[in-house]
Amino acid sequence: MHLSREEERAYQGEEGESLRRAMEILVALGDIYGADRLIPVRSVQVAGVSFKTIGEAGLEWISDLRGRVVVSAVLNPAGMDLTRWQKMGIDERFAKKQLEIVEAYRRLGVSPDCTCTPYQIRPELARRGDHLAWSESSAVSFANSVIGAKTNREGGPSALAAALVGKTPRYGYHIEEKRVPTINIAVEADLKPSDYGILGYIIGKEVGDGVPRFIFRKRPDVDDLKALGAAMAASGSVALYYFDEEAPAAPKGSEEILVSDRDLQDVRQECAPDDEVDVVAIGCPHSSERELAEVARLLEGNKVERELWICTARATAERRSDLVGKIERSGARVFCDTCMVVSPASDRYRKMMVNSGKALAYIPTLCKMKAAYGSVEECVRAATRRV
Ligand code: F3S
Repeated sequence: MHLSREEERAYQGEEGESLRRAMEILVALGDIYGADRLIPVRSVQVAGVSFKTIGEAGLEWISDLRGRVVVSAVLNPAGMDLTRWQKMGIDERFAKKQLEIVEAYRRLGVSPDCTCTPYQIRPELARRGDHLAWSESSAVSFANSVIGAKTNREGGPSALAAALVGKTPRYGYHIEEKRVPTINIAVEADLKPSDYGILGYIIGKEVGDGVPRFIFRKRPDVDDLKALGAAMAASGSVALYYFDEEAPAAPKGSEEILVSDRDLQDVRQECAPDDEVDVVAIGCPHSSERELAEVARLLEGNKVERELWICTARATAERRSDLVGKIERSGARVFCDTCMVVSPASDRYRKMMVNSGKALAYIPTLCKMKAAYGSVEECVRAATRRV
């Protein structure tokens, strides 16, 4: 990979040890994937924040780094609400380590916005055509597919390296030719908002790391697309999809998948809730203001009988403290900075009901719990009365 004189100096350690380590990661990645050079990025989103996932080794690695990021950089969800962790049942040892991790990132200049939906709270981080170095799979999918920015799915260390250098190797989804659809998906089903998570769950399994091009009967809205991309990134590893009528179709001879109401119904039945559900969680990816408003409306005049969590970004919760107040009057809890998958708070439950295809895919594997699926309305109903 070609390096400019300035990049070469950093690579040789003439700009300090942290930049040398960052350049080492970027050059190694670039060499593996055949990048020709480094390109500037507008922003970085860094995964690898929860102490549950990165442990002592990760904390040590981040704490050892010096210097400052040179582009806007934000964090992925941590393992707990950074201020209300006791309410999540998090123990003090975990909390101490988690706060140390966030502090280590903050010292490097990474903003502790701890969310997988940075585009909901800071739209300036990603615009159409921008190159980014984002890590969290649903954020990557949204950036590539809905915003029209360009990012590979970075690991935590490579994202942090990109933030310190301000650049990323040019390969994969940064290159136009790698962004062509590979498979057509004709959705004949009549989709309700709660079906997009299930649709993504089904299609992710089918297409793996392909680039699906959807044909819908009705244009999805932004929250539908957020749910669809998140689920495909978890049950498969889809980082880019197309949904616009004007988007090019996959090349002639490419496979085509038809999705019927029956396909969705089968998964819904398989994942229907039962009496074993002992916790309900909404907000994967993090809830938007509109989603908070819907939960608040559904909970009005009700009290929860099962634990109900709603996960969102702190900035969203602060902006809509009125909705948070309404939700919490029912006994449900709004948690910020974290989620049901990356927090150890989930570990004490047996079966979690979610409205997310991504959480449905991850909870059995990453949290070792059973999972059930339903719409937001069904989730609220399950939390407020017996199923
Ligand atoms: Fe976000 Fe956690 Fe889901 S990081 S996409 S809420 S698994």
